[in-house]
Amino acid sequence: MADMINVALPKGRLGDTVYELFERAGFECPSIREKNRKLVFENPEAGVRYFWVKPSDVAIYVERGAADIGVAGKDILMEAKTDVYELLDLNVGKCRMAVAGPKGFCYDRDNELRVATKFVNVAREFYASSGTDIDIIHLNGSIELAPILGLSDVIVDLVETGTTLKENNLEIIEVIAQISARLISNKSSFKFKTKQIETITRRLEEVIEG
Ligand code: PRP
Repeated sequence: MADMINVALPKGRLGDTVYELFERAGFECPSIREKNRKLVFENPEAGVRYFWVKPSDVAIYVERGAADIGVAGKDILMEAKTDVYELLDLNVGKCRMAVAGPKGFCYDRDNELRVATKFVNVAREFYASSGTDIDIIHLNGSIELAPILGLSDVIVDLVETGTTLKENNLEIIEVIAQISARLISNKSSFKFKTKQIETITRRLEEVIEG
């Protein structure tokens, strides 16, 4: 169906919350709730086709037009700098992007600051703005381990409840950005499917505000 809107949803806990918003906005697709390992689900009556995508890949699917719209964390949008429109803050998946380090950590400016992170571009940009020389250590997870083992001085990572930091004797040094899930759109889809995309955006907005 030519006018179907293809929606990339982030697989996992955030995706379930986000799908619920779409459902409440009138774009339900009951088959998505069935326990199976399918990745594509559609409801032609509602005009939507959903894909479960790895959260960090959503913006790529949308940028390249494999999906018309999608939901991605602001952290991923900041890091990947994909060329998409950001249409709406969905107000879910809220956390902070922050610099954290061992309690009482004091930076000695004579040495390069060693920063462990998944978000290398965000970290580079953040420290460039204050003219701080850094040595980036690119990790893929369990970032909190790095300062504990002396692999890095600090980390740039997401903090949700703060429990991981607390239980590893680390603390926030500085908050870089407030993060939440955003509705994004492919630029040419927005031009050619304006009406449908605007309708979805408006109805989601009503659900969030309601
Ligand atoms: C994220 C993040 C922190 C943790 C923060 O990790 O990277 O480690 O959650 O949550 P908290 O403040 O509520 O403790 P995730 O669980 O995604 O795993 P990862 O270590 O593989 O990134």
